[in-house]
Amino acid sequence: MPESTQQSHISLDHEKKQDPPAGFFERTVNKPNVPDLETYQKWYKQSIEDPNAFFGDQAKKHLDWYRPFDLARFPVDPKHDFEHGDLPAWFINGQLNASYNAVDRWAIKNPDKPAIIYEADEPNQGRIITYGELLKQVSKLAQALTKLGVKKGDSVAVYLPMIPEAVVTLLAIVRIGAMHSVVFAGFSSTSLKDRILDGDSRIVITADESKRGGKTIETKKIVDDALKDCPKVRNVIVFKRTGNPHVPFNSGRDLWWHDELNKYGPYFPPVPVNAEDPLFLLYTSGSTGKPKGVQHNTAGYLLGAVLSTKYTFDVHEDDILFTAGDIGWITGHTYVVYGPLLAGAATVVFEGTPAYPNYSRYWEIVDKYKVNQFYVAPTALRLLKRAGTKYVEKYDLSSLRALGSVGEPIAAEVWHWYNDNIGRGKAHIVDTYWQTESGSHLLTPLAGTTPTKPGSASLPFFGIKPIILDPTTGAELSQNDVEGVLAIKNAWPSIARGIYNDYNRFIDTYLKPYQNYYFSGDGAARDNDGFYWILGRVDDVVNVSGHRLSTAEIEAALIEHDLVAESAVVGYADDLTGQAVAAYVSLKKDKIPEDADLDTVKKELILTVRKEIGPFAAPKTILLVDDLPKTRSGKIMRRILRKVLAGEEDQLGDISTLSNPQAVQQIIQVVHASL
Ligand code: WTA
Repeated sequence: MPESTQQSHISLDHEKKQDPPAGFFERTVNKPNVPDLETYQKWYKQSIEDPNAFFGDQAKKHLDWYRPFDLARFPVDPKHDFEHGDLPAWFINGQLNASYNAVDRWAIKNPDKPAIIYEADEPNQGRIITYGELLKQVSKLAQALTKLGVKKGDSVAVYLPMIPEAVVTLLAIVRIGAMHSVVFAGFSSTSLKDRILDGDSRIVITADESKRGGKTIETKKIVDDALKDCPKVRNVIVFKRTGNPHVPFNSGRDLWWHDELNKYGPYFPPVPVNAEDPLFLLYTSGSTGKPKGVQHNTAGYLLGAVLSTKYTFDVHEDDILFTAGDIGWITGHTYVVYGPLLAGAATVVFEGTPAYPNYSRYWEIVDKYKVNQFYVAPTALRLLKRAGTKYVEKYDLSSLRALGSVGEPIAAEVWHWYNDNIGRGKAHIVDTYWQTESGSHLLTPLAGTTPTKPGSASLPFFGIKPIILDPTTGAELSQNDVEGVLAIKNAWPSIARGIYNDYNRFIDTYLKPYQNYYFSGDGAARDNDGFYWILGRVDDVVNVSGHRLSTAEIEAALIEHDLVAESAVVGYADDLTGQAVAAYVSLKKDKIPEDADLDTVKKELILTVRKEIGPFAAPKTILLVDDLPKTRSGKIMRRILRKVLAGEEDQLGDISTLSNPQAVQQIIQVVHASL
């Protein structure tokens, strides 16, 4: 059970409910896909009481099948979901193909319709890829992969920047029934190696170099470093992003993307797979050091992606959705790739950053392409809010109807900034709460339909039965105006089907902490209107700029440094990144020379984390201390470490149970001296 809830930086301010903005309806001739709140309530009720009927209807309507399913869920009755660690199976005996649903059916209808709007790192260097062109590219790569021996059920590792070829890659892999395992291109070679080995990928798809925020990243070199310890990898397909002739190329193993694709014709039939066949693996951080290969299966995931895209963002076929997230994370999987394409809409693939060449970049893109739905993490909004409205004012943003927020709580003042300056009061803000494991939205308003409150993720998505539990007793708190940990009672179609090669770990992590519930890892409150407020993680996960980091994983990286005796990593509030990482480190006394420069040591420790995990996980603060506070059984009391960083050293409670209470005084001094 969690030691204590982490600090959250939102206040549950019970702001009044606001109806969807009237201006939303001026900006569209369409009725919302979920036409009104009564319809939401009616559908929601059915989705909970008879998920078999509800999701069966939805799956027939929103997905195309080679073979219809016999039953939407087995067992039909959700009453026993999660008991004994069991998950129901969805769309029994149905057969379909993800790439057919995302590409072919739209290409057949209208090949000239834009599918991907690529905005390169440098403004004005992008291009538009139609559904017809996408089908061609996907078919060619699918053939190349087949020729290289990739078969149904194999995993292919993907280490690519945000370019259209990343979308082509994912869809080509699933076209032949294989699974992709995307590794965020900000991860180091060590992390990439770990994921290639754990996922048993034999083929890697990457780029020569990447461009981001005006900088060039040596992507292929990172892959080469990773592959030194991956003897089973047969081939690496390399997309030429920059064409730098000095990029290393191992002719026995490496293949140029363009050479391979040129060998094949423009069409290759998709391979029908079973509804419950795996679609992809995506690694995510948890309470322990080893990242988890979260596995999603085909039909349930696809249904979650398409329904939430259409209902949460109110996406219609002619819309353009711009999700400013990376394909290396679940947000990119579901709302850059699968959701928009399954809905037949156009998706913006943006290679750059919100600050390059200046803070107007997002708004310039929205204006240029007349984007209808924009989706981003609050961390970017905080940065842009700080930069000032002068970067927004001159752009025409009147095409926007839905403004999404994801990955961390959005503070009310940031919500208002988004609403006033980007939506200009006429776009509906949807604060979407979900996880890698959930595949698609869990709690969210539906654009044009659900009333909102700044800072609240509002109400559950279809099929989601949220429960607030007392963290210590595990009792259900069924009233309103309660706070506790967030659990979910019933399984939903896009819930992860396990952790790759370790189903027991899936059960232990999500289904064991509170018997017969899915445990989210987050604290939450339900207010007097029944609206939900996410209060942050209750486990040892830190959320930095919407990136989920495991403190145990960072500790495991630090210990790789020769001088480190012990470390404890905790999160603390940061104005820009939401949370920042602080590492308390005690050094091996006998190994540090008398005249050691401790600032250099700190820099080395930061470098170690960059090298072991990636730059985005680097601690913001290193606190060198003699000793860490421990219980008599030797457990580090992280609660104390967090409280000291939060300036709450007068609220440490009883520290007399520590085996080394004297450690606390020095910790307070070190923190005061550093921050
Ligand atoms: C957090 C990202 C508050 C939460 C999609 C969750 C949020 C974790 C929100 C999952 C939100 C996500 N409000 N917190 N709207 N959305 N989170 O797997 O702690 O990278 O458990 O998926 O992000 O992170 P993940």
